Amino acid sequence: MYSLVEYGNMIADKVRSDAYARALKSVVKPDSIVLDIGAGTGIHTLLACKFGAARVYAVESNPAIHLAQEVALANGYAGRTIFIQDLSTNITLPERVNIVVSDLRGILPFFTNHIASLVDARRRHLVPGGQMIPHRDTLYIALIEAPKLYQNIVAPWNEPYGLNMAAARTVALNRWSDAGTESLQGHNLLTEPYQWAVLDYATIADSGMRMAEYEQPVLRDGTAHGLLVWFDSELVAGIGYSNSPDSKNTTEVYGRAFFPILEPIPVVAGDRFAFSLQAEFSNGDYVWHWHTRIVAQSDFTTVKADFVQSTAFTGAVDDERNAALMADYRPKLSLEGQVDRFILGLMTGAHTLTTIANQTYTQFPSRFTDEDAALSYVYELAQHYNQ
Ligand SMILES: C[S@@+](CC[C@H](N)C(=O)[O-])C[C@H]1O[C@@H](n2cnc3c(N)ncnc32)[C@H](O)[C@@H]1O
Repeated sequence: MYSLVEYGNMIADKVRSDAYARALKSVVKPDSIVLDIGAGTGIHTLLACKFGAARVYAVESNPAIHLAQEVALANGYAGRTIFIQDLSTNITLPERVNIVVSDLRGILPFFTNHIASLVDARRRHLVPGGQMIPHRDTLYIALIEAPKLYQNIVAPWNEPYGLNMAAARTVALNRWSDAGTESLQGHNLLTEPYQWAVLDYATIADSGMRMAEYEQPVLRDGTAHGLLVWFDSELVAGIGYSNSPDSKNTTEVYGRAFFPILEPIPVVAGDRFAFSLQAEFSNGDYVWHWHTRIVAQSDFTTVKADFVQSTAFTGAVDDERNAALMADYRPKLSLEGQVDRFILGLMTGAHTLTTIANQTYTQFPSRFTDEDAALSYVYELAQHYNQ
């Protein structure tokens, strides 16, 4: 749960906040109805009102929403704002909105229920063709030289007092960490950035991301320590920010993700770096898998490294999600889960896709824009689970 200091840091991040303010200013019109998901202390709700929105629904699960309500009142916006303390996925609004504004991302956009919440908001709360802010996030990967960051991860486990703690070292190397924005610059990169994923929130349907293996040449001599992953955001067309190590104007709040490899590997220009990265959405969070291979330029049969890593290999250590799912935890099915269970229950071989879609739409009318949307969703699910 975010603290007031963290909400303050988000607002104080000028690059991020200015971009959101400009984006809202460019799309909010006097008749706009706006949904602010994850409103926090209300900054985007207030800005939307300031730029003339007719009505703003501010939805936030954190008690910070009470502060948001108080500041809306202080700014004279009480008559145009509706505050709801809940998750956007749990609520039904009395009308559809023209604009959905949010920033539910962590260090990367693949963060807890961020994408699932936006897909749900687009399907249930937004008018067709309405504006999603952010509109698009683009993620990049590069091989990176990062000795200090790597040391921070492995140093505690390198035979303290002569003791073998290799098992903990292996777990530590199957986690990714926040590389911040200060410590690494463009000169730390050993390859060109590779565009890994484009998340277009106007169309995205899947919460996860998988890629086939991709290969790139190493650009200079050095030591490879891991993968650096970051994202650039386009909030609305032409307005956004970049978290690239080459950017002079990065945001403070997101940082960058560092995926270490199992051993530092000396490389020379021309070596081949082959990699794949997968963000698998499971139980409201992500399991990450990364496979890295480095092949010598002098002799392509010499494999310098071939590492298969995954956050799934870390077991229960330091895994909040596993802690939450301890044996005495009582899980409760989300709306998405209820819809999926209903559809799967009808996939007995007795009903056509159209019948299943019609029954699903009747059962969950607020979940889909129309019957066609229900049909595409049923179709997607049937592709996954049909015999
Ligand atoms: C990164 S903060 C953003 C706060 C504020 N909008 C800003 O940009 O400064 C994300 C907020 O979203 C909230 N949140 C995440 N998913 C949500 C959802 N589906 N519905 C409502 N609130 C959500 C979290 O509690 C958190 O307060």
